[in-house]
Amino acid sequence: MEGLKIIDTGDGSHTLYNKALDETYHSTHGALTESQHVFIKEGLQFKLDTLNTKEISILEVGFGTGLNALLTCLEAEKTQIKIYYHTLEPYPVDAELLDSLNYTLNLPQKAKAIFNDLHQATWEERHSITPFLDLHKLQATLESFRERNKFDVVYFDAFAPRKQPELWENAALSCATNSLKQHGVFVTYSAMGALKRNLKALGLEVSSISGPPGKREMTRGIKI
Ligand SMILES: C[S@@+](CC[C@H](N)C(=O)[O-])C[C@H]1O[C@@H](n2cnc3c(N)ncnc32)[C@H](O)[C@@H]1O
Repeated sequence: MEGLKIIDTGDGSHTLYNKALDETYHSTHGALTESQHVFIKEGLQFKLDTLNTKEISILEVGFGTGLNALLTCLEAEKTQIKIYYHTLEPYPVDAELLDSLNYTLNLPQKAKAIFNDLHQATWEERHSITPFLDLHKLQATLESFRERNKFDVVYFDAFAPRKQPELWENAALSCATNSLKQHGVFVTYSAMGALKRNLKALGLEVSSISGPPGKREMTRGIKI
C-alpha cells in the first residue's frame, strides 16, 4: 500500500502512519503494549481462562503489520495451545516496509523467524507457521466475509470509527459477530458508545474494560 511511513510509538515499538487517512495502525502511546493488552490479554487469554481446550480459532480484522499475529503465535508457544489464525486484509503492506519494523527487537529470539514466516506465507492458503499456529491470510474485506459460528475470538482491529465508520456499523460488524461461536469473544480497542449499542443489538453481552496506556476503556463482547 502506498502512502505509509514508519513512526515510533511511546513504548519504543514502531507503527505505520497512513497519510491519506491521517491515521496510525496502532496507538501512538505504544503499539506493542496496545496489541498485548487489547488482543492477547483481554481477548485470547480471557477466552483461554474460560475454555478448557487445547485448540482455539481466531479471526482478525486487519492483518496490517502482523503484530497481533506475531504476539498470538508467541502466546501459543507459551501456553502450548494450538491456534488456527484467520486474518483479513484487503491492502497488504509492502515487504520492504515490513522488513524495517522493529517488533522483534525485545521479543524472544525465535520471534524474528516467526515474523518473517507470517509475512512470507502466501495469501488464500493455510500454512503451518509453528506446531502451535496455523495461519490463513485472506486478501479480502470484512464486508465480504460470510463464515458463521466458526471462531472462538475475533480481534477487531479496523481503523478508528471516525476514519472508517462503515466498518463499525451493523452491516459490517455483523460479518464479524456472525462468525463467532456461541460464547465467542469479540475484542477491540474502541470504547465508542455506538459500537457498544450495535454489538448489543447483534446479540452480544458487552462490557467496558480497562484499556491500554492512553485509553481509559476498551470493549469486549461475548456472544450469547
Ligand atoms: C488499525 S490497522 C491494524 C492492523 C493490524 N492489526 C496491525 O497490527 O498492524 C487496520 C487494518 O485494517 C485494514 N482494513 C482496511 N479496510 C478493511 C476492510 N474493509 N476489511 C478488513 N480490513 C480492512 C487496513 O488495511 C489495516 O491493515
